Amino acid sequence: MSAVRKNRQKLKSIKDRYLNTIHRLNSQSVSKKTDAYADIDWDSEEFKLDKKDSRWRTSSRNFFENTSWYKSLPEDVQSEFALEQITNQLKTAILFENTLQRGFLAMLARMENNAPEFRYCHHEVIEESHHSMMFQEFINRTGLDPKLEWFKKVLAKDVINFSRYPAIFFVFVLSGEEPLDFVQRFVLKNKRENIHPLYRRIIEIHLQEETRHICFAKTYLEKHFKELNHLNKIRLCTFSPITYYFVNRYYFLPTKETIKKFDIPKEAIREAFSEDFKEYILNSMEHTTRTFEKIGIINNYNRWLWKKLKLCN
Ligand SMILES: [Fe+2]
Ligand SMILES: [Fe+2]
Repeated sequence: MSAVRKNRQKLKSIKDRYLNTIHRLNSQSVSKKTDAYADIDWDSEEFKLDKKDSRWRTSSRNFFENTSWYKSLPEDVQSEFALEQITNQLKTAILFENTLQRGFLAMLARMENNAPEFRYCHHEVIEESHHSMMFQEFINRTGLDPKLEWFKKVLAKDVINFSRYPAIFFVFVLSGEEPLDFVQRFVLKNKRENIHPLYRRIIEIHLQEETRHICFAKTYLEKHFKELNHLNKIRLCTFSPITYYFVNRYYFLPTKETIKKFDIPKEAIREAFSEDFKEYILNSMEHTTRTFEKIGIINNYNRWLWKKLKLCN
């Protein structure tokens, strides 16, 4: 078989896989959908929130856990600090979801009749609205007041403009969805019984739907990366590792307000985000780097950058 024919067949099988995936995700979005209010009994007794509840210490991945600063805190302050970090992550997640929705809506406004993505993108926008309502309702009930730092807001605005280049925009989408997905999957697997029941319910709902979102973004990239011109391929390959590097840090580093409120010493931050953190990021990136290698986003020309930023081995 000639090389041209082989290549044409390969593209056809990618296109078929893409359309089948969209079809499957569309059906699941109808049969396995959840509602932020109908599916969570917010006022039930077991879902009551208390900042000093010891279960906050095991409800998320706490990178300060082994620092001498954290160990020296009274237990109720440790719990409040862990909850504060959870609300910071959720606040950042709401901003990511908002950015994704606005980018999707801009893409949708440009889509032609019969575009295969039209229906699924709307499903995803609706699901992200339920996630944001769920996260904000949770934050409100904690009594905490997490703030977004200015640079996150500026970055989000810039990213929306990238929806004109969907493949690049989808890398951002993935980089925003995966850290939260990984950390929630991690606690659910390792500490299921020690998670606060309200937070566990939120995680379960979120993970079920995020799995679809991540699958769509990866399948979209697999199909559309090949169609980019040379210059846009270079842009995407350079932009991807840098985005992942920063977004991973935005999720987990404490905000300025948190540092001030808990008087966290610089040394403790250095200790928390040293080797353990880097190891965690490497593990969390395993699946993504494998997919990106397959697609060609990680290649012989830019692998050094992924390695330098400690995103792959
Ligand atoms: Fe979400
Ligand atoms: Fe999502």
